[in-house]
Amino acid sequence: MSNTEQTLSIIKPDAVERNLDNEIKQIFIKNGFNIFKEKKIQIEKSEAEKFYKVHETKPFYSDLCSYLSSGPIVAMILEKKNAVADNRKLMGATNPKDAEEGTIRKKYGISIDKNSVHGSDSVENAKIEIDFFFKD
Ligand code: RTP
Ligand code: MG
Repeated sequence: MSNTEQTLSIIKPDAVERNLDNEIKQIFIKNGFNIFKEKKIQIEKSEAEKFYKVHETKPFYSDLCSYLSSGPIVAMILEKKNAVADNRKLMGATNPKDAEEGTIRKKYGISIDKNSVHGSDSVENAKIEIDFFFKD
């Protein structure tokens, strides 16, 4: 029996633009994640609005969706035991200023907006987000 879990990770435009995607993928691999599927794409703002619908009432919603659709991103299905929680830990706090040493956002994040990576925040949302990018 396998207790492998899946989560959705996105390497955001600020990181892809700085050619950090391979470096960040290596960090996931080093930390025990299998990159099950991946694709480099650019999405429309309307698609970003769908993806971040949970935040639609927040003041930063429009900027957030403009940002996610502003350039190429790398969407990945990451797999390991406790993938959702372990990925959140490896990413670090939303604001890179608050992120712990050794986390991806501490190392690469520029600001709360340009924080280099996204990760699903629950197993339930991981399923929805994986379908969003990989249900073809
Ligand atoms: P993400 O969804 O991108 O993995 O980030 P997260 O769970 O750590 O943070 P979340 O609360 O879901 O927010 C989504 C993204 O919105 C931007 N944000 N801006 N200005 C603000 O107060 C603010 N708060 C959040 C961030 O770029 C965050 O990644
Ligand atoms: Mg989130």
